[in-house]
Amino acid sequence: MAEIVIKGNKKLSGKITVQGAKNSVLPVLAGTLLCDGECVIHNCPHISDVDISFKILEFLGCDCKRQDKSVIVDASCVNAFSIPDSLMREMRSSVMFLGAIIGRMGKAVISSPGGCELGPRPIDLHLSALQKMGVKITEEHGNLYCDAPNGLCGSEIHLNFPSVGATENIMLAAATAKGTTVIHNAAREPEISDLGDFLNSAGARICGCGSDTIYINGVRKLYSTCHTIIPDRIVAATYLSCAALTGSKITLDNIMPSHMVSILSLFRESGSNIAVSGKSLTITGPKILCRVPTIRSLVYPGFPTDAGPLIIAMLSKADGTCVFVENIFENRFRYVDELNRLGTKIKVEGKIAIIEGVPSLSGASCKCTDLRGGAALVTAALAADGETNITEISHILRGYDDIVSNLQSVGADIKLIKE
Ligand code: EPZ
Repeated sequence: MAEIVIKGNKKLSGKITVQGAKNSVLPVLAGTLLCDGECVIHNCPHISDVDISFKILEFLGCDCKRQDKSVIVDASCVNAFSIPDSLMREMRSSVMFLGAIIGRMGKAVISSPGGCELGPRPIDLHLSALQKMGVKITEEHGNLYCDAPNGLCGSEIHLNFPSVGATENIMLAAATAKGTTVIHNAAREPEISDLGDFLNSAGARICGCGSDTIYINGVRKLYSTCHTIIPDRIVAATYLSCAALTGSKITLDNIMPSHMVSILSLFRESGSNIAVSGKSLTITGPKILCRVPTIRSLVYPGFPTDAGPLIIAMLSKADGTCVFVENIFENRFRYVDELNRLGTKIKVEGKIAIIEGVPSLSGASCKCTDLRGGAALVTAALAADGETNITEISHILRGYDDIVSNLQSVGADIKLIKE
């Protein structure tokens, strides 16, 4: 089984170019299903969630090719409308193909996406919105049978929670629906705006992305286009936490500072110096990390839940006790037990993690429990005395392109040991 081996307590220095955003490229790849022709997507990261998305697109009849960081998807010959259970289980966020498949084929069959390492992942908001748009949905033997006999119709939709995935699914279904769809209490994450930009470049008529009300005027069809994926703000936060925790100075290229306001302010509050210049920034980690009394994860533009594990790892050596309140997912602290094996002192009480700062960390063997929890283990291991072995690293490879070689390039003693 592949593992990552890190010899910690090394200063980092140099430059890392941040990859394209996983949580943007996945809905954009789903959106290529709606385009009658070839779409070229640039700045597409080499991550396993993209590989699974390719398998789904190819199963549906698309032709997918990759040329380094660009992918070409030809959806001229889409001829299927179901996603096999095996693929659904490999990537729970496959549910966001639902709106696009129905938009293209008028029907869809997917297996009910199970929960995941973050707890139950309900899709009630997705389904109730699609039903309002004219989709008949029945659940049998663990499969969802979706059918829009009269096609998709625009509708006024009020989300009781600004769900990122539900907002994306509605946008994908509404892009070629008859009439206008309005999404109230829509998610405002940058990845939503990136999806809207992609769909508009293919001929859709969407406005209001980035605000809490999105208007989609359905058009008859979408066409070939090309699009460049925005930088991954959570991967950027990951490298920032590595620099902050090791007291290092590194530069990140290909970032969008405006997408990272809440993240950057937290790194500054905990003592790092951040100098932003255009689409790059240089972080200088402090000698002593300052405690941050309370951090709360919120929907955008609040502090992102996905950056929580990385910040918690960073604050493990702060000069005091910090409290992290997780407001988005039910069970996002499964990685903490593994982190404590490296000498952190973190207690979890429900949705609250209490991080008592310690003077040093020590290498140990540990295993990933989820994508961002795995990245948190890498962050802590870089600052730990001695050697750390991290297993179950497939979680990390789902969302991080070249994390080992990127960290090697700034001086980390880190190796990927293949099976
Ligand atoms: C997206 O997940 C991201 N995934 C997640 O990133 C991210 O943590 C999350 O948004 C929040 O920002 C992708 O974009 C592929 P939600 P998603 O719908 O769409 C509840 C990572 O680390 N909810 O905004 O699933 C849900 O249970 C991943 O890259 C319902 O109750 O997030 C959760 O508590 C992890 N009913 C909350 O809303 C629904 O129908 C947030 O979910 C949908 C969601």
